[in-house]
Amino acid sequence: MAAEVPLALSTKPGGSYIDCNLGEGGHTEAILKSAYSVSILGIDLDYGALSRAQDRLSRWAAQLSLHHGNFADIALIARNRRFSRCDGVLFDLGVSSAQLDDPERGFSFRYDASLDMRFDPGARLTAYDIVNRWPQSKLEWIIRELGEEPRARRVAAGIVRNRRIDTTGQLAAVVSKSLNWPIRSRRHPATRTFQALRMAVNEEISNLERGLAGAVEALSRGGRLVVISYHSVEDRIVKRFMRASAEICDCPPRLPECMCDKTPTLTLLSKGVIKPRISEIRDNPRARSARMRVAERI
Ligand SMILES: C[S@@+](CC[C@H](N)C(=O)[O-])C[C@H]1O[C@@H](n2cnc3c(N)ncnc32)[C@H](O)[C@@H]1O
Repeated sequence: MAAEVPLALSTKPGGSYIDCNLGEGGHTEAILKSAYSVSILGIDLDYGALSRAQDRLSRWAAQLSLHHGNFADIALIARNRRFSRCDGVLFDLGVSSAQLDDPERGFSFRYDASLDMRFDPGARLTAYDIVNRWPQSKLEWIIRELGEEPRARRVAAGIVRNRRIDTTGQLAAVVSKSLNWPIRSRRHPATRTFQALRMAVNEEISNLERGLAGAVEALSRGGRLVVISYHSVEDRIVKRFMRASAEICDCPPRLPECMCDKTPTLTLLSKGVIKPRISEIRDNPRARSARMRVAERI
């Protein structure tokens, strides 16, 4: 959604923006091209992505500040890098195409690789640890809650029964067998389990909750918060956060008058979600699940 991002951020000459998921730098490039003399702080957990983005964006080096770190710490990072009171914060959540397509990273069942799935290759926990060491009940919980797999119990039991599992290929085969899935189905049966594992390895839920709160802290009045998510688990968190931040009152409806003194911090600019154009989906089928929400700091 590179064309929509600068519009959603309402970029202006001399503005300052934080790209919380720099990745390959595609959105940052679109922001840099959209307005004269903008400055951008790009954050990513993946050193490889930061280095590729730095090469790609070398023309704008003077306007760029790159940071290896977790967007959960955005409030602190923004303060240290003199980006607090910025004009916009962008989240483009999840995994990049470069990471998915790298056979070494273990994000995809399309390649038989070791079970890794870390955004930050220096982090401790890997998918191997979860698959081979977590108790069945905890496995079942993440597969149901983070992967939205209705038959999580069968998958978790299948994994525990087939331990030890070393590679993405072995895991995909175990999940397919546990679900007794027809080989020619549209969606690979292990898709939901792989999503759950990636989210657990990278603590994506708690990072997102902390990141959204920190982003509001880092924004100036009138600054924009733009979030692109790719599945309903993350979109639900974004929707709830934005709605709660925009609410004027938290009081239970039975109270005759407001007692909470709540001050809303955001106003919602997108009614529902903004979806990618059909032409974009045609060029990049992975964009089909993207959902963008936009709010403004008040
Ligand atoms: C969908 S990609 C972003 C693609 C990017 N917008 C572009 O145009 O190339 C998501 C990126 O966010 C990074 N990431 C995921 N969780 C993160 C976190 N908590 N903190 C910082 N970076 C994170 C991943 O390493 C990945 O590079």
